[in-house]
Amino acid sequence: MPRRDAKSRGFMTFPLYVFDAYGTLFDVHSAVARHGGLVGPQAVRLSELWRTKQLEYTWTRSLMGAYRDFDALTEEALDFAAARCGGISAQARAALLEAYETLDAFPDAAPALLTLRDRGAKTVILSNGTPRALTRAIASAGLQDLLDESLSADFLGRFKTAPEIYRLVGARYGVAPEQVSFQSSNRWDIAGAGKFGFRTIWVNRAGAPDEYRDLPPERVIATLSEL
Ligand code: LAC
Repeated sequence: MPRRDAKSRGFMTFPLYVFDAYGTLFDVHSAVARHGGLVGPQAVRLSELWRTKQLEYTWTRSLMGAYRDFDALTEEALDFAAARCGGISAQARAALLEAYETLDAFPDAAPALLTLRDRGAKTVILSNGTPRALTRAIASAGLQDLLDESLSADFLGRFKTAPEIYRLVGARYGVAPEQVSFQSSNRWDIAGAGKFGFRTIWVNRAGAPDEYRDLPPERVIATLSEL
């Protein structure tokens, strides 16, 4: 159960901290930011639409029972976003997909993970991403020594917010949902994780307005350094 002790300097420490990956530890907009010149004036719009369609596809395909993995949906979403924004070159498309595999970690990610592990907690990713892509992203961001492992929705062929995805954590670690602190920047993910029973922390770096008000986060923080 959560505890307060000297090592945690008064912070509540959970035995297990579970993190969403894309948007929470990794900056999904860093791919387009890196190649803005190749994309052109619609770069910001393209990046937003790319992410929005990628997520939409995860939800619709989970509802339909027509699974395709997150890598495929990321590619499909980029093609839609690019077409909507006037098209991109084959070179830009290849560069963006490669950049998506090696996204920047947010600067607060590594110090926060280190602090939690120093307090004796386990740190784990629970993501819609494929195991292959997660392994590559973690390595390229240099987070491999700061995470115990990553659990992927791909094992079950559905995506968050299906409850069975959150259930993967308890199945792996034998913990009750209320022993898990779940961190995500995605408000929909916080809603799903809280409904499942996790203790939830919404990482609202951008100061986004609240939504899913009947499924509130337990805490809201602006940066992972507040963990
Ligand atoms: C993740 C994305 C969807 O699960 O944020 O990592």
